[in-house]
Amino acid sequence: SAAEKDGFDYFMLKEIVEQPRAIADTLLGRLSVEGDLTLDEMRLSPAELRSVEKIVIIACGTSYHAGLIAKYAIEHWCRIPCEVEVASEFRYRDPILDRQTLVIAISQSGESMDTLMAVRYAREQRAKVLAICNVNGSTIPRESDGVLYTHAGPEVGVAATKTFITQLIACYLIGLYLAQVRGLKFGDEIDAVIAQLATMPEQVEKVLNTIEPVRELARSLSGADTVLFLGRHVGYPVAMEGALKLKELAYMHAEAFAAGELKHGPIALIEEGLPVVVVVPSPQGRSVLHDKIVSNIQEVRARGARTIVIAEEGDESVRPYSDVIIEIPAVPTLLQPIVATVPMQVFACELALAKGNDVDQPRNLAKSVTVE
Ligand code: AGP
Repeated sequence: SAAEKDGFDYFMLKEIVEQPRAIADTLLGRLSVEGDLTLDEMRLSPAELRSVEKIVIIACGTSYHAGLIAKYAIEHWCRIPCEVEVASEFRYRDPILDRQTLVIAISQSGESMDTLMAVRYAREQRAKVLAICNVNGSTIPRESDGVLYTHAGPEVGVAATKTFITQLIACYLIGLYLAQVRGLKFGDEIDAVIAQLATMPEQVEKVLNTIEPVRELARSLSGADTVLFLGRHVGYPVAMEGALKLKELAYMHAEAFAAGELKHGPIALIEEGLPVVVVVPSPQGRSVLHDKIVSNIQEVRARGARTIVIAEEGDESVRPYSDVIIEIPAVPTLLQPIVATVPMQVFACELALAKGNDVDQPRNLAKSVTVE
């Protein structure tokens, strides 16, 4: 009913707007103002977490994209090798697992059959399984050794929005906590990340307050056949998520590439007027990466692409090569997916609405896929 939708026409629109609250609720009680992390609720003891030698993340769809982003953060902060795999592939390839392996199963619903089967398989192989889940008491957390719940609240729209953003929060918390229990030196970078994590509700609010131009842009592109998405580092899985949202909601061909791979083939796809969405890392810190992607933007634009650039506010270097700039707040690179994903969600949702699609119930899709 309209009341349940809080005056929004679709649950998805409401759920996008709820993201700052969902992030705050997921951080609550776990990250103190002093920057201390408390995750005892996970049911995995610090001793168990100290013995972990390898991490394997398994998930499907959007949850898999959260896992891809988690890999960058966990390997960088904890120096533990971390693999990420789609759950449907996992148990069919004889993966290497043992007691020192921590499997992190990410599932919004806790009911995806592919992920559940992968969890069962991992436990049979004696790996420890930690679930990240949004639904209390669902099957995957019940069958795992430990769980960290996201507190996004119920998500009705089939397309994951606030559950994805809170999965990212959960992944960052786990990465930082692992570093903490393993006694890794909390240098300035980690302190800065913790401080910034606490500000994420406000940062996402900022993005939502300046989103109107993204809506207009989406409407202007409703006749396009294809949209390409480019990113590097954590911006690559963000690009993958942007492409998935467009497929699911707008039924459009959309594909994401690691920007550095362009020259190895995909650049042949670029033609006059083709919309290309590019996620640009912060110019601060990892500036090499930033400069590389600016040249990737130049390359596609020189071949006729219409460049839609998601960049940090005040990043002047992208201006000469961008047809449209979508500004996002300055945050540390590893946290950028939280703010960079939001315009992608709005873009796909608005484009789908412009095509007359039902964004809450896209064709052929179910909210949770309980068959293998
Ligand atoms: C997300 O927009 C999709 N509806 C889908 O990819 C989803 O993320 C996937 O099916 C995994 O679901 P889960 O997180 O409930 O396991």
